[in-house]
Amino acid sequence: MTKRKINPVDYAKEILTAIPKGVLLTTKAGEKVNAMTIGWGTMGTNWSRPVFAAYIRKGRFTAEMLEKNPEFTVNIPLGDFDKKIVGICGSKRGSEVDKITLAGLTMVDSDAVKVPGFKELPLTLECKVIYKQLQDLALYSADIAKDFYPQDIDGMAVGANRDEHYTVFGEIVNAYVIE
Ligand SMILES: Cc1cc2nc3c(=O)[nH]c(=O)nc-3n(C[C@H](O)[C@H](O)[C@H](O)COP(=O)(O)O)c2cc1C
Repeated sequence: MTKRKINPVDYAKEILTAIPKGVLLTTKAGEKVNAMTIGWGTMGTNWSRPVFAAYIRKGRFTAEMLEKNPEFTVNIPLGDFDKKIVGICGSKRGSEVDKITLAGLTMVDSDAVKVPGFKELPLTLECKVIYKQLQDLALYSADIAKDFYPQDIDGMAVGANRDEHYTVFGEIVNAYVIE
């Protein structure tokens, strides 16, 4: 396996098309590696740096992992891949199961962060958190609050629930495709 360094802008279409179908955001703290499925994400420029912004509900295990090590990778499929990966990583909680083993993911070391990429989702963005802020329930428009933050649903629910999201800006410090 080799890693081919890329400029993420050259893959903007692949990345932005894949996000709403579900890609992975992976974290590592100590020896624990965890991947969660994300369906929201924004790639662009902020503070004159290339950034990937992710939106992580505060109750996700991933939020705890980012507290311990503020680095992540974004793992994007290129072509066909086993859809059960996004199903497992988007429904199980990393504190309870080893999703990497369960989903059959093959880890590949990154270069600039401790968090690995995966052979199965080969387009990899290596990111370091440069800004993180918990969104404010009071500031959502009424329709967004109603659809996405129902206050009667516990934060452990996989779908819409009472928890606000953290906006997490990662500087994209390196990017590669595993071949
Ligand atoms: C298609 C899909 C997209 C998702 N997108 C997000 C997202 O952008 N942000 C989020 O907080 N949770 C999202 N989730 C839910 C998490 O993936 C799910 O709660 C997961 O179990 C969290 O894992 P963790 O607790 O190990 O961090 C999504 C789930 C699916 C199936």
